[in-house]
Amino acid sequence: MDFYLCFFITNLLGLPLAIYAFFKWKHQYWKRKNVPTFEPSIPFGNLENPLARTIAMDERYTDMYVEAKKKVASRCLILFIVYAVLASCLRVKGSFQEAALIIFPSTPIKKHGRWNEKMAEMGQEEGWKHLELYMFTRPTYMVMDLDMVRNVMSRDFQYFEERGPYINEKGDPMSANVFFIGGHKWKNIRTKLTPAFTPVKLKNNFQMMVDYGKVLEKYFEEKAVQNRQPIEIKDTLDRYFMDLILCSEFSINCHSLDNPSAEFRTHGKQVFNGGKFKNLRFLFGFTYPNFCRALGMRLIPKHVNDFFVNTITEIVKYRQEKNVRGKDFIQLLIDLRNNKAVPKDWHREDGEILTMGELSAQCLAYFMAGYETSSSALTFTLFELARNPDIQKRVRKELETVLAAHNHEITYEVVLTDLKYAKQVIDEALRLYPVSSVLTRVCVKDYRVPESDLTIDKGTVILIPVKGIHKDGQYYEKPDEYDPERFSDVAKQARKPLCPPSVRRRA
Ligand code: HEM
Repeated sequence: MDFYLCFFITNLLGLPLAIYAFFKWKHQYWKRKNVPTFEPSIPFGNLENPLARTIAMDERYTDMYVEAKKKVASRCLILFIVYAVLASCLRVKGSFQEAALIIFPSTPIKKHGRWNEKMAEMGQEEGWKHLELYMFTRPTYMVMDLDMVRNVMSRDFQYFEERGPYINEKGDPMSANVFFIGGHKWKNIRTKLTPAFTPVKLKNNFQMMVDYGKVLEKYFEEKAVQNRQPIEIKDTLDRYFMDLILCSEFSINCHSLDNPSAEFRTHGKQVFNGGKFKNLRFLFGFTYPNFCRALGMRLIPKHVNDFFVNTITEIVKYRQEKNVRGKDFIQLLIDLRNNKAVPKDWHREDGEILTMGELSAQCLAYFMAGYETSSSALTFTLFELARNPDIQKRVRKELETVLAAHNHEITYEVVLTDLKYAKQVIDEALRLYPVSSVLTRVCVKDYRVPESDLTIDKGTVILIPVKGIHKDGQYYEKPDEYDPERFSDVAKQARKPLCPPSVRRRA
């Protein structure tokens, strides 16, 4: 009896203590490397409790970026004051401001508030190029410096070729899509998908956009002009882009603009709204993928998965049996699956070029990548145009002038070459409201950070704080203001590129 009581008490006290010690030890990782970090808490590390969040998860990263930048600035401010006081005592008998100007001769200190920028520059020079964090217990490295962004995404890409999100190829085949996978699997699938994103293919899709645009115009006309009803713009654009993407993907007309409860729409929405535990599952999967795979955890709800898999299987079967072809995304994948003459390294170990599971996963990726991104980008653009009537007038004028010059016909070439201001307006909305506030990568082999003593160990999660950088006063003056002029050709040339073309290339 005593033995069992002892055993029970030891476990009762011992287990929590062991868990506490485990977290404490794990949370010493960056301290052991002697690099700056925000104090983590048990068990979430530097994350907010995903079940009791007060802000969106990726906004938290933006806040941390801003906080870290402020720390840089405040450290520099102290230095600045010390320098200025010393200079004023030793070198000039003038005011504080004069002394400061000796240290920063080119900086109009008070006039334009540019000393703030100078502080941040000094911070960069001092080596605050990164911020170290924890996702639960997993070491996470936030890049704070643009050169390092380029290293991770492009120059030294071979060290960071994993994306990070949880993949469970067997239990949740849809998770193994081009967005989530990394390494050689990503390269292999990405090469196969490239023909879907050529300019010719996009040009083919363009007429579809125009046709669906007419349906949208009619919808606005009936609802807002004739019936004077308010329109919930995000929901309407979600439906417009969903119809468009499904048409370009499967040649299906889903009619979700007319019928909000269309089956594709109800299931499609659930890919993103995974319920209360979605974030917890996502983070847990990100942090402890092997454990989650052993538990058979899935990110995409089973009934949503089954709906997409069954629909895609039906389409493939129908096309093959009836020998029907479409000019769409799925046709490209069907042709690929049937084409035995592809390069040898395109074959999988089992001899297949593309399994049905892989085909379905890429279809889901196309759907996810296409509709939410586009509808969010356009919603935020319209939001800013509503708040800035002068900018709205200028875009309208540009559209009217360009359309008048082209016989009121809108073509792919016109959009690409003549609607310059409209493009600036969208680019600026994407700066303020980027579709992905953070991009993630995982370090796949130990990487020595250039010009520093720090080595990023294999397995460390890398965060690129896209929104933090976009809203950083060091790169954009008055960063919270909506100003499409930032994306004029002249302004773009004058700026160090934040996101060089190679960022999206990944290899
Ligand atoms: C305003 C609209 C869009 C924005 C802002 C956007 C943004 C992005 C970003 C930032 C990435 C890179 C993610 C990363 O590297 O981790 C990405 C990847 C991707 N996007 Fe988009 N996207 C948009 C529209 C679309 C559309 C309409 C499609 C297709 C129908 C699409 C298909 C893809 C695909 C397949 C990838 C993965 C490419 C790869 O792994 O190399 N996107 N997108």
